[in-house]
Amino acid sequence: MSKKSILFVCLGNICRSPMAEGVFLKLLEEDNQTQNFEIDSAGLINGHQGELADRRMILHASKRGYHLIHRSRPVNILDFETFDLIIGMDEDNIKRLTRLAPNKEALKRIFRMTDYCTRNNISSIPDPYYGTDKDFEQVIDLLEDAYEGLFKQLKSEDKQIKL
Ligand code: 4NP
Repeated sequence: MSKKSILFVCLGNICRSPMAEGVFLKLLEEDNQTQNFEIDSAGLINGHQGELADRRMILHASKRGYHLIHRSRPVNILDFETFDLIIGMDEDNIKRLTRLAPNKEALKRIFRMTDYCTRNNISSIPDPYYGTDKDFEQVIDLLEDAYEGLFKQLKSEDKQIKL
């Protein structure tokens, strides 16, 4: 099968989207799917460019066995050609991505992370930046839920992905 490439996007690319990248990299590895995917993340602002994830996100991630090594980078126009799926974390992310998309084809690649959640009925991955420990934990819970839903969907679309 051809590789599926997924770009996770949030505002700063230091909390939610690098966490999404970390969750997907680990869970895809556990599902023996690493070779079938290209995973990256990016932000809609460049204020944290070059930085590792927020230390609170790194801490909560490591407690659950996720290791975040991504460094923040802004979304760029080429991403709309490179990635099959560009997945935003909340309504504001989707709006900004829609404005950046260079053409109609690019618009079709934009998705919302919570649309893949099946255990949680929620419309955004809330921004934890000004939040508490509980908010960082919730980000990971929601991303793990979304992983299952998205992986199941991709598997049903491509019969060559087997568990
Ligand atoms: P993220 O969280 O979008 O999940 O990475 C944020 C990080 C930084 C800022 C906002 C949200 N900020 O305003 O600097």
